[in-house]
Amino acid sequence: MIFDEYTIKSLIRPVPDFPKPGVVFRDITPLYQSPRAMRMVADSLIQRYVESPVTHIGAIDARGFLLGAVLAYELNKPLVLFRKAGKLPADTLSESYTSEYGECHIEVQRDALHGGEQVLLLDDLIATGGTFLAAARLIKQLGAEVYEAAAIIDLPDLGGSRRMQDADIPTFTLCAFE
Ligand code: PRP
Ligand code: ADE
Repeated sequence: MIFDEYTIKSLIRPVPDFPKPGVVFRDITPLYQSPRAMRMVADSLIQRYVESPVTHIGAIDARGFLLGAVLAYELNKPLVLFRKAGKLPADTLSESYTSEYGECHIEVQRDALHGGEQVLLLDDLIATGGTFLAAARLIKQLGAEVYEAAAIIDLPDLGGSRRMQDADIPTFTLCAFE
């Protein structure tokens, strides 16, 4: 299916002052409720990575899990979960970060990745980049590499994609809200 940015953006609803005053929350639930739009998003990402050297899909808690599962299934790759603190059992590594509206810890299991592996990191949105950058630090600590960090939405005014570029993390997004 041909990607239509106008359709995708029209299905992302701005919600002022959620979850805090001053934040314009970009709500992707209308997009997830459109099978046609979801297929456009999934097909674009599948096409981009189907012939890449990606060995693993890394999905970020919680909205990134939705895309991550679709991509792992379609590309037939192992799915690695990056979860908010205290959710993953067994031996984990943890990184703290600040996002647009809060402080958090993200964790991954120590045996999930190994040296030489190439991870496609997926989430719905880049705001400050704090979440992606923390996940990228975990991947590096396990000896693996970020092949690319991909999201549906970039919010360039919040500086995340610039911070990721400065950190040499290749980044790909399907649309942006200035
Ligand atoms: C949102 C979003 C990204 C992150 C982006 O997740 O899904 O993971 O914030 O912000 P950043 O670029 O400033 O780090 P949130 O922490 O709200 O969790 P959720 O997916 O569980 O809703
Ligand atoms: N995560 C961080 N900032 C966000 C925003 N403005 N909208 C939706 N999710 C977000």
